Amino acid sequence: MANKFYITTPIYYVNASPHIGHSYTCIAADTLARYMRSTLGEKNVWFLTGTDEHGQKIQKAADEAKLSPQEFVDKVVVQFKGLWNKLGISNNDFIRTTEKRHTEFVRTALEIVHKNGDIYEDTYEGWYCVPCETFWVEGQVVDKLCPDCKRPVERIAEKNYFFKLSKYQGWLAEYIKSHPGFIKPASRQEEVLRFLELNKLNDLCISRPKERLSWGIPLPFDPDYVTYVWFDALINYISAVGSFDANGKYASEWWNDDTYVVNLIGKDILRHHAVYWPIMLKALGIKPPDTIFAHGWWMMNDAKMSKSRGNAVSPIDMVNEFGTDTYRYFLLRDVPFGLDGNFSEDAIIKRYNADLANDLGNLVYRTLTMVEKYFSGNIPQGKMDLNDDRVKAIADKISGLKGAITPNLGQAGDYNFSAALEYIWSMINMANKYVEETKPWNLAKENKNAELENFIRVLVSVIRASEEALSPFMHRTAALIREQFLEKTIKKGAPLFPRIENK
Ligand code: MSP
Repeated sequence: MANKFYITTPIYYVNASPHIGHSYTCIAADTLARYMRSTLGEKNVWFLTGTDEHGQKIQKAADEAKLSPQEFVDKVVVQFKGLWNKLGISNNDFIRTTEKRHTEFVRTALEIVHKNGDIYEDTYEGWYCVPCETFWVEGQVVDKLCPDCKRPVERIAEKNYFFKLSKYQGWLAEYIKSHPGFIKPASRQEEVLRFLELNKLNDLCISRPKERLSWGIPLPFDPDYVTYVWFDALINYISAVGSFDANGKYASEWWNDDTYVVNLIGKDILRHHAVYWPIMLKALGIKPPDTIFAHGWWMMNDAKMSKSRGNAVSPIDMVNEFGTDTYRYFLLRDVPFGLDGNFSEDAIIKRYNADLANDLGNLVYRTLTMVEKYFSGNIPQGKMDLNDDRVKAIADKISGLKGAITPNLGQAGDYNFSAALEYIWSMINMANKYVEETKPWNLAKENKNAELENFIRVLVSVIRASEEALSPFMHRTAALIREQFLEKTIKKGAPLFPRIENK
């Protein structure tokens, strides 16, 4: 196990406001970063997010807004930063591809790859999808529609620069085969391998003539061209955390052999990350990330949520209505990471009322009430007495917590957030059941003080363990619980999650 951890999200296109899909990757990455900080220490974790600000999509959106591309991206980036702030995203750095630290780095990287002979000039003729910024060859295109987004493609013929992807196809297939867990979930690893087995990789066109697109990083070896937006964008993961020396050798505090590196993405950009990216790194003499994890999509009525489909829901609206922690909890709990899920407000309300109001909120509030009522606000100290079978089972559940969380949130974990949360909830619900079965009011009536004390100790132990385990997911709720359960006394506040009555 490496003792440092570096996690990234995709850098988001700033052609429109962020939607739920964007916030999903950031919330997941944030949860992992927070968990890893709790195990490796603050200083040993680096969490990067940012924005993808070049390319045709952005230039088009800027034109429509009657702004220069730079003015336009400067405006939209504020929305992303504001949203991450509202969602409590704890990124250590935020990279914008229009920053000098990035553009200069990309130019150096291009020079290195060019000098090594992995970039060549050729005439390209074929189909081009403007919204996807992707070239397609004959056979891939049916009815002049983009195979990915189904929008019309354009026919183009022009001189361009190409990156030798094909040269590294064999290497990549071998690398993936010999590194299980490089691409996750396993189904995605198989998908990429199958793709590599069934297709011959085309070299990647990495330039755009300036006359057609000027909003990009100029190629260092031909000023009439700018860099293809994906070649520019992927490099953010290394440009933000390192530099090349005069001999073209890359050095970084975070992208190195002592650090476990995770690129978290959505499945829509798997090909770019699992094929182009490792090959780009190989050509630059840099190690691949340790894990590329592709999560599923949030859908609206079975269609992927996206701005262009017009079905995007604003995270800000959801947070204003339900609160940050409910929103974070819902996204990570309702659908196993890696699969698709349908988004609806009804589903949020259901989760809220059942898991947060009824289970967690209730356990916290009733325990506070009992400590107040039976012990004048003083928490009975000392260890739990494990003679009772039910108490023993709860204590075992608490001891099992680490073993249930690490395989899911740990550095080489499965990132199965919902499974980790399920375990925490099974513990919370054992405690709630224990309250109902124990009938503490009877213990009080019969003056069974020792038993009542032990009963409270059990509940407080479950609450403290839940608070700690939940803290990467819902740090604000965890802090509220900590404020109410001090070391020796309580400080009862309002219920954490008052029920939402049916609207
Ligand atoms: N700019 C590129 C990424 C470059 S990374 C070097 C890009 N940007 S994007 O803004 O279109 O989408 C970025 C990410 O947002 C997706 O990979 C995915 O992680 C997330 N999502 C966008 N829509 C989504 C859903 N409907 N559902 C879940 N996540 C999705 O692609």
